[in-house]
Order: sequence, then structure tokens, then C-alpha cells
Amino acid sequence: MEVKKKILVTGGAGYIGSHAAVELLKAGYQPILIDDFSKSDSTLLLGVEKIVGEKLPFYKGDCAKREFLESVFQIEGLISGVIHFAAFKSVGESVQRPLIYYHNNISSLITLLDVMKDFQVKNLIFSSSCTVYGQPDQIPVKEDAPFKRAESPYGATKQMCERILEDSYSSYKVISLRYFNPIGAHPSGLIGELPLGVPNNLVPFITQTAVGKRDKLTVFGNDYNTPDGSCLRDYIHVVDLAQAHVKALEFLNQSKPANSFEAFNIGTGVGVSVLELIYTFEQITGVKLNYSIGPRRAGDVEKTYADATKANYQLKWKAGFSTSEALLHAWNWEKKLAGK
Ligand code: UFG
Repeated sequence: MEVKKKILVTGGAGYIGSHAAVELLKAGYQPILIDDFSKSDSTLLLGVEKIVGEKLPFYKGDCAKREFLESVFQIEGLISGVIHFAAFKSVGESVQRPLIYYHNNISSLITLLDVMKDFQVKNLIFSSSCTVYGQPDQIPVKEDAPFKRAESPYGATKQMCERILEDSYSSYKVISLRYFNPIGAHPSGLIGELPLGVPNNLVPFITQTAVGKRDKLTVFGNDYNTPDGSCLRDYIHVVDLAQAHVKALEFLNQSKPANSFEAFNIGTGVGVSVLELIYTFEQITGVKLNYSIGPRRAGDVEKTYADATKANYQLKWKAGFSTSEALLHAWNWEKKLAGK
């Protein structure tokens, strides 16, 4: 029997980590999940188990804690690569509590790199974000666009982590995936986004309003320089995003340079406005959303979407799901959570 390559997935109980675990298993890898449950619980792990029909190795702990990480590497033996999802990701919270963002996001990466080196693990895929570009001068934005000053401490941590990875390239093979706006849920309806408390992001706010959990959605501004005045984003289905990680692992295994750092945009290449997204949601679900236009949200970028040509050609990856499918899957997941 062929031995499966072990891939350590930090933040494996989270939104993107759980979807990646499913895709890794489907592609023949053995995901080893770790999570400290600081922003999640076991709900998505149970969903993953239902989808794949087996229990996955899981370790509860904080990857900024060296002893914890070392123990996982020791127990698991040969690990062929790491996907590092574990990080705090709320823009608003990062403004309120910057130090915990700098501390958590940066020290977990440094600790992970240290331990990987000790155990001679080189392959790393890092969860980055289009937030590293700020408001780009040119859209669609390409990977070589300059980093503007980050709008939030969260964005600054992603820029700093990329810098750390670039500087450490001689010891590792790193791919940084710059996600645009992940939305949707697994088509099975068994895993999806599970925000703690009031959601910050648009799609969970839409689905929670539609299901009756929130009274009303506010559109943050309709006076931007865009066709309908609301902000433009590149919404990418979370399963497409998860599959990009599998492609990135294949790329790392095949690519020639022993040590390297490469960044890839992961998006659809299509800009969709907030109002268009709301309209599409109403069309495909038949649910009328209670929303109104409010003031702009501080720190919002007016418009950004990806030039994902580099990922299309080099990783041989392309987004497959439409925005409508992503919204429908998010809606199915929300209804399931609400027991409807
Ligand atoms: N929006 C609303 N009402 C809401 C929530 C959001 O109108 O209740 C709007 C925002 O103003 C923005 C769009 O919906 O125009 C998308 O907002 P999100 O909060 O869903 O996403 P962001 O683009 O602000 O941020 C996301 C991730 C970050 C990541 C960033 C990169 O949340 O982690 O993309 O640009 F860094």
C-alpha cells in the first residue's frame, strides 16, 4: 500500500483549514490537523469527518508554543509539508488589539519555521492575503505590485510574515498564497464559515440576515468610484481556494530550485460589487434581504481583484465555481446551522 505524504495543517479546525483538509485527503495526502480552538471549536472537524468518512489525526495546541509543535513533529515522524493557516484574521479586532495580532501571527510563524528547520521540513504554504497590496494602483492586481502601507495591524502582520519568509528563503521552499475574498461552503453543506459572534465579513452577514439571525445588513458606502458606488472585491469559493493549496503542494514537489519563495494571487479575476452580491443572493435564493446603505467603513479598499494568471499557468489552478454557486452553498450551510 502506498504511504500517504503527511501534511501538517495549522488552523485545521478553521474555515479554510477544514476545507483544505478535505481536498488534501481527496488528493491522496494525509492531513495532520492542529488548532488551539481560540477562534473555532470541533464543529468543522466533525463535518470534515462526515465528508471523508474517517477520523483525521488532530492535536489541540498553539503553534506559537515550541514544545507543542515539537511534540507533534516527533509523534508524526516524516512530515512532507506544512500549510500554515493558523492566524487571527479580523481587520477590526486587529485595530482594537494590535499587540495580540502581532504577537500571535508573527510568533507562530517564527516558531513554526524554527521547528520545521529542526525537523528538516522544507515545504511550506503560507496563508497570505490580498490585503498586502492595500489599494493597488492597477487592477487587476499582479503579484509584483508594490505593497502599500497596510490599512490595519492584521494586514501589517501578513506583510511582515511574507517578508520573514522571503528573507528565510535559503532554508525553505515557500509558497505564499494571497487569497482574495473567500466565501461559500462545502457543497455537501457539512462544513462552512462559522464566525464567532457578529460577523465582520459580508457573506456571513448576508446569510445570517437572510436566516433571521440579524435584523439588517448595512452596505458600507455607495459613493465609491465604482459602477454602482459600492466596493468591488474578488469573491473566491472556499473549495476552489482549498484546491489551490493542493496545486501549490504539487508545484513545490516538482519545482527545481531547492529553496525558494514564490507568491501567487488566488482569486477569480472578476470584480463583484457589494450591491451585485446582494442582488445575486436574492435572485438565487428567492429571499429578500433587509438592507440599507450606510456610511463607508474605515480602512476599506475601494476596489481590488486578482490577476491570477500566474496561478493559472504555474500552479495549473483556476477557480471553477461561480459566485452564484458560492452564495448558494453559503446559504445551504447557514440554513443547516439554523436547523432549517
Ligand atoms: N461589507 C458591507 N457590509 C457588511 C460587511 C462588509 O457592506 O456588513 C462590505 C465591505 O465594506 C467590503 C465588502 O463588503 O466592501 C467585503 O467586506 P469583507 O469584510 O467581507 O471583506 P474585506 O474585503 O474587507 O476583507 C477581507 C478579509 C480580510 C482580508 C481582506 C483582503 O476579511 O481578512 O479581505 O482585502 F484581509
